[in-house]
Parts: sequence; C-alpha cells; structure tokens
Amino acid sequence: MRCCHADFALVEGSDQGFTIGMPTFTFGAGVLAEAGANARELGMKRVALFTDRGLVDGEHVAKVKASLAAAGVDLAIYDEVEVEPSDDSFRHATRFAAEGRFDGFVSVGGGSVMDTCKAANLYATHPAEFMTYVNAPIGAGQRVPGPLAPHIACPTTSGTGSETTGIAIFKLTSLNAKTGIISRRLTPAVALIDPDVTRTLPSTIVASTGFDCMSHALEALTARAWPRRLNPARGVGRPVSQGANPFSDMLATQALRLVGEFHVRAVADAQDAEARAEMMYAATLAGIAFNASGCHLPHGLSYAVSGLARDWQVRGYPQGRTLVPHGMAVVLNNPSVWRRTAPQAPQRHLHCAHALGADAKGAAPADAGEVLAQRVIGLMRATEMPNGLAALGFGEADLDALATGAEPQYRVIRNAPLDVDRDDLKSLFRAALRYW
Ligand SMILES: NC(=O)c1ccc[n+]([C@@H]2O[C@H](COP(=O)([O-])OP(=O)(O)OC[C@H]3O[C@@H](n4cnc5c(N)ncnc54)[C@H](O)[C@@H]3O)[C@@H](O)[C@H]2O)c1
Ligand SMILES: [Fe+2]
Repeated sequence: MRCCHADFALVEGSDQGFTIGMPTFTFGAGVLAEAGANARELGMKRVALFTDRGLVDGEHVAKVKASLAAAGVDLAIYDEVEVEPSDDSFRHATRFAAEGRFDGFVSVGGGSVMDTCKAANLYATHPAEFMTYVNAPIGAGQRVPGPLAPHIACPTTSGTGSETTGIAIFKLTSLNAKTGIISRRLTPAVALIDPDVTRTLPSTIVASTGFDCMSHALEALTARAWPRRLNPARGVGRPVSQGANPFSDMLATQALRLVGEFHVRAVADAQDAEARAEMMYAATLAGIAFNASGCHLPHGLSYAVSGLARDWQVRGYPQGRTLVPHGMAVVLNNPSVWRRTAPQAPQRHLHCAHALGADAKGAAPADAGEVLAQRVIGLMRATEMPNGLAALGFGEADLDALATGAEPQYRVIRNAPLDVDRDDLKSLFRAALRYW
C-alpha cells in the first residue's frame, strides 16, 4: 500500500487483508419511488415497514407505501420505534416481526428506525435470548448463524449512515449504557438514499446528525491501523470494524470535504437543496467508512454523556424525556479527543483538518490537534451546539460517573490510536467541559 499505509504492512504476522461490506445502494432525488421494484426484485411479497410515530403519517412513508402497493407487495406497518432505541423497544419490535411472518423488511426513518428494523429482523429470523448476539463483553457476542430476511433501508436523516452498516445500536436499560450488535448479516440488502427527504428535517436534527457523520469520518481516519487491530480473526470471521484502511480513508476524506463545505449551509437553510443533498451523500460515504474501520473515543465517550444527562431536550426531537441527540453527544467530545490523539498520528489529524476546510497552511505536526479542534469548534459555534458538557449540566463532580459510564465501551475505545485508562477518560471529559 502506498505512502501512509506502507508502515502498516510491516507489522509482523499482521492480517494483510481487509474486508469492506456495504449494501447495493441507489442515491438520488426521488429514488424512494423505487422501493416497490426493489422489493419485487428481492422476492418480497409481504413486508414489515418500520418507521416512527413522527414519520408514519408523512410524505416519505407515503411514497414508499405507494411504491410497494403499485408493485403488489403487501405490507404491515410498525411505527412504535423508540427514538434512540433501548433493548425493550428492540424486543417489542421483535415480537411484531416474529408474529407477522414477513419475507422482507423495509425501514423508513433515521438511525433509530433502521437499527430497530435490523434487530427485529435478526431475532425474528434467528430467535435467541436477547444478549446472545450483543457485543461482548456486555453480551455473549455470538456470531449470527445465517442470513437474515432482505431489508431495504430508506434513511430520512443525513448522519448515521446506518443504511450502509452491519450495526444496530441501542441503550441497555439495566446498564444505562449504549451498546450494539455487529454482524455483516445485519447490513441491509438495498439502501435507497433519497436526498429529497431532508427538506422536512428541522435544523436542529440536521445539525446533530451532520456532526455524527463528521465524527464517523474523523474516527475512521484516526482509528488504529487495520493490521494493528486487537481482534485477530481472519477470513469470514474477520471483524466488521477492522481499523483504518485505504478504502475507508478515501471515503472518509471525501465525507469531510463535504461536511466542511456544506454542513453549516444545510443547517441554516432547509431550502438549500444542494447543501442538504451533499450532507446526505457525506453520511453514506462516512457510514461505509466507519463500518469498515470502527469508531473510537468520541463515540465511546458519547454513550456515557447520553446515558447520564439530566433534563436535556432539543427542539425538533420528541419532547417529554431527557434526550441528548446522538450526534450532539458525539461532537461534544470531539475537540478534547483530537487534542489528545493528534501526537499519535499528526499527519492524519492535519489531513482531517485540511479536508474539513481548516486553514492548515504552515501548520506543523505539533499543531495538528489544535488546528483540528479549532475547526470543529468553529463548526459547532456556527450551528449552535452547546459549549461543551458543562452546558448540559455536567461538572467536575460528574467526571467519575462519566468515566464509569464510558468503561463498558472499551470495545470501541480500544480502536483508538492510543491506549487510555480511567484517569485518561476523566481528563478527556474534563477537557470537554467548556470550549469557548
Ligand atoms: N447503526 C449505525 O451504524 C448507527 C450509526 C450512527 C448512529 N446510530 C444510532 O442512530 C440513532 C440516531 O439516529 P438519527 O440521528 O438518524 O435520528 P433518529 O432516527 O433518532 O430520529 C430523530 C428524530 O428525527 C425525526 N426525523 C427523521 N427523519 C425526519 C425527516 N426527514 N423529517 C423530519 N423529521 C425526521 C424522527 O421522527 C425523530 O424524531 C441513535 O440511536 C444512534 O446511536 C446508528
Ligand atoms: Fe454515530
């Protein structure tokens, strides 16, 4: 491999291969109308259509329903997806999937909907005690024994990239921590990515989800390099997320260029169709990238933030319960992490800053963390993100609890380019309390 990958090949005994998974995807305005033809092509006759209560009566679901009906595909709707789902809501959705005896699944929604659909499909197809397939060490981490029913994923947010990944994330209520199920078998068969859906997104959702996309790309580029990954399994047992690799580097770099150019515009103006479409595309690219490379510290730390926050609600999201949108929880830790990880791989951090549109001219390797952190802070300020964890009510007294909340995330955290212990976690949270 060329240039920055040359050193990877020198790790003695390391895996020389990496595996990239993704669905067959179609990107373009109006492609939701292709749902019916795709369902027929996949042999679907009776599908479960997953969505959430905020979307079920809206135009995007209507388009998909009309397309399925025109193709003669029978459907039953499940709209009880919980926004930022839990194990309870996954279980509830599984009962629906199992009882309906469907031969296919269609999801129309954001990451919460697509992930719930993946999990319901999994447990309906290969019934098992819930923790069986959940990532070890929290769950048993058993391999999914066979293929699932085909799933057509139609994302309606521009951030998670879940339409491209073999990942389903949920909050485990008993631990008050987020974890997930990861298997190539969870990857949707087909993704229909229609940027028209972004027209109805409130700016607050575009802001948070855009930072989720940005962080997927940044974490993909700065993860431990693939031959240095900790899970040594090879062949078909090779893990989904393998560390930074040339393919995810390429997609993540392009995603960062798009975020740098279009994120602020997409947040500011719902009528800016170009900016919103480019962010939709960026989310897809970053999804494919981070699925193959894995996330690391910003995502690992974010799960403690969303689990421990109190009295926090954001306009545009369901009200009545504390909810820190996933992308917001992730970006709040970003600058703190980049300042810390940059000395490990200064050229990669400078590359990220440059791709995101920072003025990195003349920056020395020693400046890499600060240049990247400042660029992210600039984007946060321009999109009205909270000023660090303190804005959510966290303080010095919460650092212990935050570190404890992040510890179950060591599977993700160990994909970081450097090893961190509990004291490091505390200092990363401390540095994330306030940025300006
Ligand atoms: N599986 C993966 O690879 C992956 C990756 C990143 C994040 N996630 C998970 O995804 C979840 C977050 O998903 P999300 O950020 O896409 O948001 P979401 O699915 O939680 O939806 C947030 C809100 O946006 C509304 N909404 C969605 N599309 C809309 C539209 N077009 N117009 C108007 N309103 C719309 C929904 O009704 C909901 O109220 C989290 O649980 C996160 O952990 C999963
Ligand atoms: Fe994410």
